[in-house]
Amino acid sequence: MMLKRTVAAMAVLLVGPMLWAAEPGGSVRQAVPGNEAASVRSAASTRQAASVHEAAWGTAADGTPVKIFTISGHELTARIATFGARVVSIEAPDRNGRMADVVLGYDDVAQYEKDTNTYFGAIVGRYGNRIAKGTFSIDGKTYHIPLNNNGNALHGGPEGFSSKVWTARMIPDGVEMSLVSPDGDMGFPGTLTVHVRYSVEGHALRILYSATTTKPTVVNLTNHSYFNLAGDGKGSILDDVLMIPADRYTPVDATQIPTGELAPVKGTPFDFLQPTAIGARIDEDNAQLKIGGGYDHNFVLNGKPGSLHLAAKVYDPKSGRTLTVMTTQPGVQFYSGNFLDGKQHGKYGVTYEKYSGFCLETQHFPDSPNEPKFPSTLVKPGETMRSETEFVFGVRP
Ligand code: BGC
Repeated sequence: MMLKRTVAAMAVLLVGPMLWAAEPGGSVRQAVPGNEAASVRSAASTRQAASVHEAAWGTAADGTPVKIFTISGHELTARIATFGARVVSIEAPDRNGRMADVVLGYDDVAQYEKDTNTYFGAIVGRYGNRIAKGTFSIDGKTYHIPLNNNGNALHGGPEGFSSKVWTARMIPDGVEMSLVSPDGDMGFPGTLTVHVRYSVEGHALRILYSATTTKPTVVNLTNHSYFNLAGDGKGSILDDVLMIPADRYTPVDATQIPTGELAPVKGTPFDFLQPTAIGARIDEDNAQLKIGGGYDHNFVLNGKPGSLHLAAKVYDPKSGRTLTVMTTQPGVQFYSGNFLDGKQHGKYGVTYEKYSGFCLETQHFPDSPNEPKFPSTLVKPGETMRSETEFVFGVRP
């Protein structure tokens, strides 16, 4: 038993730092993470294994049974439901060791199913974020996705992956969620087979994505968790201090479709190169901030896509909790919860007002299928799209 554990730990140590990521051309290559990721991983190699517990969690409206998995690590407990492969809760300690749930969400499947706007905690796809007019072409053939957001397709269309019941199986330290999206699902070409692996490793919730297709298609998968590091329902996130290592961002038109420009953040409220409170400039007279009523923009990460790099760091002065987001993706959508409007009645009897949670959606850039200069989201038969994101929790005095 002891020997087995040691061997497993060594395997993690040796294999752990090697990650896989899809290149724009689609072939798969090995990538080595930066130091921060390596430290997360080596901490993981010595940590205690997480336990995984499965339970029934009601049914979707069509009667399909839904399950919920509780992954209990030494430092972190996460609950993941098969409805939308979504994160329902994450419990993490504050600076005094007090645990609190730090993501927004609902008590049951019916509430998640009723709310078609927020995407709390879900895996969104097949194309997370927006596709202009829901239209794009591959090899001269045009495809149309049903529109669900200001004349555009958002998060895969009205019945995207967030509204599906995924299949699930336990894996070491976590759960793997799988979905087969048929050819033509929401207008997208090719049968897409998707696996999303969640695991709790030390202080990190690690998410590994992979997808294969039977026809050339576009794929952009992300997790849509809303964080409130003070605790779910504990007020506004505007005092949280955010750093995003991005010299550029993608400005949008009035319907939130990128203009195609990679604009410098310098001298704008989008400059988070130095840690800055989310609310410090959110009400400035800035045309981009007015469009979505706050931050709702894709940042062009400075790190190298394909290798694990920093996407964002957040510090909540009230609780001392920190969140570090690592990813292999080229971008991150920073969304400050602008469209929460008090109509969402969440877990613990709380109501979600504007700015009561933020999202850091690691992703390819919005509308990439129509922007040849953006990193490609095309996946062809025989290729495997792979990406990784880690949400690492910590504390500061
Ligand atoms: C979008 C927002 C949208 C939110 C919830 C985010 O990814 O960028 O505009 O309101 O998802 O749907």
